[in-house]
Amino acid sequence: MIILAIESSCDETACAILKDDELLSNVVVSQIDIFKAYGGVIPEVAARNHLETILPVIDQAFSDAKLKTKDDENDWSKIDAIAVTHTPGLLGSLLIGTLTARTLAILHNKPLYPIHHLKSHIYSNWLETEHTPEFPLLALVISGGHTQIIRMTRHNDFKIIGTTLDDAVGECFDKIAKILGLPYPGGPSIAAAAEHGNPKKYAFPHPKTENPLDFSFSGLKTAVLRTVQKECGVGLDYPSHDLKNLLKPEQISDFAASFQKTAIDILLEKLQTAYKNYPDVKSIVFAGGVSANKALRKAANAKNVFFPEPKFSGDNAAMVAIAAKYEIESGVKPTDPYKLDISPRSAIQ
Ligand code: KG4
Ligand code: ZN
Repeated sequence: MIILAIESSCDETACAILKDDELLSNVVVSQIDIFKAYGGVIPEVAARNHLETILPVIDQAFSDAKLKTKDDENDWSKIDAIAVTHTPGLLGSLLIGTLTARTLAILHNKPLYPIHHLKSHIYSNWLETEHTPEFPLLALVISGGHTQIIRMTRHNDFKIIGTTLDDAVGECFDKIAKILGLPYPGGPSIAAAAEHGNPKKYAFPHPKTENPLDFSFSGLKTAVLRTVQKECGVGLDYPSHDLKNLLKPEQISDFAASFQKTAIDILLEKLQTAYKNYPDVKSIVFAGGVSANKALRKAANAKNVFFPEPKFSGDNAAMVAIAAKYEIESGVKPTDPYKLDISPRSAIQ
């Protein structure tokens, strides 16, 4: 079976073509360079860029997959199904991907599979690997918008057992990077700055939650802000966006390293607790943009712990295609393209 998948939930426009387990193409065009100038994603700008980029990205996916006709047209006769990210994400961004996918499904008479973005992140662990996770498993989804522990007992079966009560961990990386004057996206910038820093220089709290498997990152963000203000000798009302001008490079690295260590420790503590609650678990799976973090990969490295290939950690369409493959194999029926619904905040189910 050949699946063409489209992803446009945030600021990456992506299309991939998957033939059974073989990835024929995987095109990702990122808008990061545009948003570096603003320090974050502007939803309307992202949507407009998706609109300009999506058709050339699909054409490129056909080219890379060598699925062009002799007239250099996209050979739709080879495609068996279309998959698309339909939730969660930025509304305008999702609309461009879903409208494109449903139009193509109608035009070329293909079955359409709307795929949940977090499922796709989890399934990035099944891409280009011989050694795949075993069930039952625990997945730690750590992205810019989500932080969740999900239990899976078989394919396409998801139960959320822990979730963030406020900020997502990726969002926390992004916001703290801004305070420290590091460029967007914050995760990779913090990771790079942390390499030269002392992770023990500053101690930050590990927030307590009623459900021990839930997360809370807004307190950590405030704790870093207050410590930076104190270190710079300014009051609590000093604007956070001006602090970067007072910090020395060594302090920035120490704050980055100390925050990164705290965030990793919190994630791994929660996962340990979850693992104790579910002793039948055979694999632990990391997923989402933050799973690219090298210090996290090093700290969590163990047998039966899975990380996606770094190129599949961030948003891409290959993970959408593989998630669709397992949905189809689990007996999920295609969606009527005229009835495709998008609700930007739906939970995984
Ligand atoms: O999964 P993703 O690409 O998009 C969402 O679905 O949200 O995740 C993006 C998040 C951003 O917050 C980004 O700062 C973070 O992943 N990120 C990282 C790293 N690379 C990306 N966080 C920590 N360390 C990294 N190396
Ligand atoms: Zn994502």
